[in-house]
Amino acid sequence: MNPVRKATVLISGTGSNLQALIDAVASGRLDLDIVHVISNVADAPGLQRAERAGIRSSILEHGRFADRADFDAALALLMAADAPDLVILAGFMRIIGDAVLEPFAGRMINLHPALLPKYRGVNTYQRALDAGDDIHGASIHFVTAELDGGPVLSQVEIPILGDDDATTLAARLGPKEHELVVASVEFLTRHAVECGDGTIKIDGKPLATPYRLQADGTLGA
Ligand code: GRF
Repeated sequence: MNPVRKATVLISGTGSNLQALIDAVASGRLDLDIVHVISNVADAPGLQRAERAGIRSSILEHGRFADRADFDAALALLMAADAPDLVILAGFMRIIGDAVLEPFAGRMINLHPALLPKYRGVNTYQRALDAGDDIHGASIHFVTAELDGGPVLSQVEIPILGDDDATTLAARLGPKEHELVVASVEFLTRHAVECGDGTIKIDGKPLATPYRLQADGTLGA
């Protein structure tokens, strides 16, 4: 994948990560054209964020399709029409199937609220608390057929505090997720990144361990 210029963002809810991307574009930090926002939930508040920013948006309600394959086929068509360099799943709460995965392999990233490979799936905050972990975090990974299982590009860690519950942990992770998604997309606008066969190559070199979000808001070793 050559440095990214055009992106489509998939959402299901609040869209605070979408907003972080919109703000980073508006401030000039991110040289990116967000061409389309697609939501599978009709009243997702993130759709209003797209509208306020003048970004085209579409609603594709999964419940209106006969089955998962039909939904995936419609989503793939909608996504392909813009020919985005990158598709960003930012709080998109649907499992994506082959009709989308195949044409967009290596060009789709997902934000997941856990330090993958730990805690794929849902309820990550409670699961980290129940396990007695000291740290939690978020990951940006390439999307593959395995749920939350694709190669990890970048991560951010936060400490778990003694009095944390799932709500406080999620609230403290949120702003860090915003920084991580912006830093990661910025990285993809500046580097040639390939993702195939379970590995990520950055400017031709394999990435041994995921990048970390640095104090200056960029990705680093
Ligand atoms: C984020 O916490 C993300 O990790 C999870 O869903 C949430 C999306 O939030 N997958 P928002 O819709 O971007 O506000």
